[in-house]
Amino acid sequence: MKRLGILISGRGSNMMALADAVRERRIPQAEIALVVSNAATAAGIERARGRSIPAVVLDHRGKTREEHDRAVAAELERCGVDLVCLAGYMRLLSPWFIRRYEHRVVNIHPSLLPAFPGLDAQKQAFDYGVKFTGCTVHLVDEELDHGPIVKQAVVAVEPDDSVETLSARILREEHKLYPQAVALLLSGRYRIEGRRVVEM
Ligand code: GRF
Repeated sequence: MKRLGILISGRGSNMMALADAVRERRIPQAEIALVVSNAATAAGIERARGRSIPAVVLDHRGKTREEHDRAVAAELERCGVDLVCLAGYMRLLSPWFIRRYEHRVVNIHPSLLPAFPGLDAQKQAFDYGVKFTGCTVHLVDEELDHGPIVKQAVVAVEPDDSVETLSARILREEHKLYPQAVALLLSGRYRIEGRRVVEM
């Protein structure tokens, strides 16, 4: 059994998509060991507990980045976590954390990276006038929204789209893509060649 740790800061819809996929065995032989939020107000905390998934709040305020990350890592290790999934986690990770979990931290971002990293990626893409955008699951390294790409999905921008309708379609793709990427990573059927994640 592989154990997932999920870090959130907000509503937690990707966290729930991972939980659904674990329950339906689309992510086989896995369980969600722990959900950690840095924000007590995160709606995802109650959603996790509603599914009987252990969920804790670790407030980052008043601590250095590394101090906070060490506290998070202590919880993840107590729960025997194999893979850390960022799901709307609104904090940069310290170099210490990245090294400790090298190639074992994965993130989902709502654009086709390397286009539109950072905040409000859907709005950035919409305002730029792209015809296609989408979402990216990538391994996390020390640069923001940067590590090797595991999977991507393309979403077309329709003429009558608003940022809201486009974001909603991207989110539906995120909920499909993230479980597929996590299943691949847990299966071990890939290798990393530089920036490339090659499926085997
Ligand atoms: C998603 O759009 C994800 O791609 C981005 O943050 C958002 C989190 O949404 N990293 P949710 O909390 O999973 O609903």
